Amino acid sequence: GAAELGPYRHYMQKEIFEQPRAIADTLEGVQGIVPELFGDGAHRVFKEIDSVLILACGTSYYAGCTAKYWLESIAQIPTQVEVASEYRYRDSVPNPKTLVVTITQSGETADTLAALKHARSLGMKHTLTVCNVATSAMVRECSLAYITRAGVEIGVASTKAFTTQLAGLFLLTLMLAKTRGRLSEDAEAGHLKALRHLPVALQAVLALEPQVMAWAEEFARKENALFLGRGLHYPVALEGALKLKEISYIHAEAYPAGELKHGPLALVTSAMPVVTVAPHDALLEKLKSNLQEVRARGGELFVFADADTRIESSEGVHVIRMPEHYGALSPLLHVVPLQLLAYHTACARGTDVDKPRNLAKSVTVE
Ligand code: G6P
Repeated sequence: GAAELGPYRHYMQKEIFEQPRAIADTLEGVQGIVPELFGDGAHRVFKEIDSVLILACGTSYYAGCTAKYWLESIAQIPTQVEVASEYRYRDSVPNPKTLVVTITQSGETADTLAALKHARSLGMKHTLTVCNVATSAMVRECSLAYITRAGVEIGVASTKAFTTQLAGLFLLTLMLAKTRGRLSEDAEAGHLKALRHLPVALQAVLALEPQVMAWAEEFARKENALFLGRGLHYPVALEGALKLKEISYIHAEAYPAGELKHGPLALVTSAMPVVTVAPHDALLEKLKSNLQEVRARGGELFVFADADTRIESSEGVHVIRMPEHYGALSPLLHVVPLQLLAYHTACARGTDVDKPRNLAKSVTVE
């Protein structure tokens, strides 16, 4: 009811603003990276596995795509990510030494549950879920779990569940890195410090809301949008596009910026806003030249740029400045303004933000 919403217009907005609290709760009690965080017998399982297979749907799938970058770079463990509804029906080559990781807010998504059972039927018995509901079917089905503490999520478009999943998946990455002798004490301390600082860093990003609202006014008049990201932030671009289409009904697509020249550049005109996730990482210079390609075709850029990128506003280039680059955890910050952009664009278009047409919060049938 209205009382529960407090100062917010919709549950989605409230849930976006709950993220600092949700992350703090999800990390509560994490003193160090130890197997017990994931349940009984985790140590033995982590010792035995040589790869990871992530299965999920929707926004949870994009959390998995982000985790793949972490798992392969920080833990150096081969990782596959698959949409659950595809995996369950295709022939694949099982590896009994794989850790099967499901990611699900509800723990009740039919395709994800069926994909888990399919993996198990192929002889993969090591299963772990990153899930927001401790009493769910998925938690009962998996031998290991990391329970996120986002709290009840009401908005159909997932927000706080996504960032808390990322926090859980980052802990899993650190755990697997440590098990494999790839995490020094210093690195562990550094990552834990960055995790603990996330609530404060998220507050700073939430303070960008008025600037994002100004952009949303423009977006509300568009029918298409392109989202670009590279590397670790490509899944963030995918998630930004998904949020926009789900609740504002604007057609949105995401591309890794290096793929522009292989198709989407043909769509770029002044009528196509191009949203860009621009962290100050190793790919920044490449990304800048991708942005030139868009500008050269008259495309209008809306860039979320880390403070230290030196990407400046100019004709056809709008910039919202993010905090300093946040390293490996940067996706948790960069996704927030994209959630806000989708939210305020949908508000400006007058859609039913918390209950978008044709979509359900939890898809418990195939
Ligand atoms: C539905 C929801 C999405 C969610 C997806 C997966 O499509 O609308 O927000 O990401 O299901 O749900 P799960 O509970 O498995 O994370």
